[in-house]
Amino acid sequence: MEEKILIIGSGGREYSLGKKFIEDPRVQKIYFFPGNGATEEIGENIVFRNDGEIIKFVQDYCIDFVIIGPEKPLVSGLSDILREAGIKVFGPSKKAALLEGSKAFMKDFVSRFNVPTAAYLKTSDFEKACEFIDKLSLPIVVKADGLCAGKGVIIALSYAEAKSCVDEMLCGKSFGEAGKCVVIEEFLEGYELSVFALCDGEEYVLLPVAQDHKRLLSGDRGPNTGGMGAYAPTPLCDEILKQKIKDRIIEPTLKGMLKENNPFSGVLFAGIMVVKNEPYLLEYNVRFGDPECEVLMPLLKTPLLDLCYAVMEHSLSDIKVEFFDEYCVGIVLVSKDYPYKNSQPQAIYIKNFDSSIGHLSFGGVVKKNNELLATGGRVLLGIGKGKTLSEARKNAYSLVEKIHFNGMGYRDDIGLKVLEH
Ligand code: AMP
Ligand code: GLY
Repeated sequence: MEEKILIIGSGGREYSLGKKFIEDPRVQKIYFFPGNGATEEIGENIVFRNDGEIIKFVQDYCIDFVIIGPEKPLVSGLSDILREAGIKVFGPSKKAALLEGSKAFMKDFVSRFNVPTAAYLKTSDFEKACEFIDKLSLPIVVKADGLCAGKGVIIALSYAEAKSCVDEMLCGKSFGEAGKCVVIEEFLEGYELSVFALCDGEEYVLLPVAQDHKRLLSGDRGPNTGGMGAYAPTPLCDEILKQKIKDRIIEPTLKGMLKENNPFSGVLFAGIMVVKNEPYLLEYNVRFGDPECEVLMPLLKTPLLDLCYAVMEHSLSDIKVEFFDEYCVGIVLVSKDYPYKNSQPQAIYIKNFDSSIGHLSFGGVVKKNNELLATGGRVLLGIGKGKTLSEARKNAYSLVEKIHFNGMGYRDDIGLKVLEH
């Protein structure tokens, strides 16, 4: 077996998938489209101008399969286009990707199968939206239906704010087409979990449950981001809660998708809010989370390659999936103006560190004259491993101390709250 794999995407998530694959002696080469400055060090970056070029490349270079990292190509149907050309793909179909691509589809779908989720109204009618808003208590959650690069969710603190958000979404001002239908939801108060299920259409396997830290600043302050750090497994999800999540959320979803002739294959990522020990589904994503992926990959004992084939060949029930009995903590280092805009490229200085405590994962970087430059957004992560969560956390922060670039920012409390409990 000399596997050649094409990974679509350019973030830390894709870097961490590539890193995991390349550690497997059966993997010969990884290609990234478009990749980033650091993925060049573990594989080769390629640029394609259209889907036809991807297909030609995969055929000419005998690529064994393609794995699609981000939501955008999944929602726009790249996996179907590749499959129709006879290419093996890890990632859901366009129709199944609607679980992430349309919040209205997702809410209607899970309601049909009695999955616990926040009470909601889906509408394109301003008057109906206002009527529903008046019935809710504050704060009120307003979501644009379509993909908005993680920005389409507003937590409105007053009725007037909720109505004006709806108005701006419906008229296309705030999120264009994605906001022409809105979902208005009751606000759920609790703590969040990131739950990942590898699914082959019928069977599924849960990965260790992770927790992300969405707000920019320590103490859960500042604006929402794509994620400032994650850790897994979280002690906040015991076996009883995990069973509830399987029974009430993951299983009815997969069965429902199958029943509606829309089987889900790939990674189903459930954003869960736990309210008084009961799980509620906040959102579905149809891909690995970033930064969750970076802390989950090191915990996989079963090779990622075997998991991908089991998903693509509908044989998950035939393999035993094992995880290392360890914890992993990932701290995201962001550039100066994240999440508002990209910053000027900055040199990244990395001091030597002991690789037994963890590693680095790279996202917003380019390579110029053989040097890595931070180009904005979520630049890189320090990933610490340990036998306990506190050891993994200590290791992750000791890696972060070895890194410097101008304008660098990070949270100092990733994985802290749970340790203090
Ligand atoms: P989403 O993109 O749907 O995951 O929403 C982004 C973030 O908004 C979530 O991670 C939650 O922190 C928050 N959120 C979304 N829906 C709700 C809700 N119904 N109640 C409370 N917080 C929510
Ligand atoms: N970390 C959350 C996400 O990838 O959407």
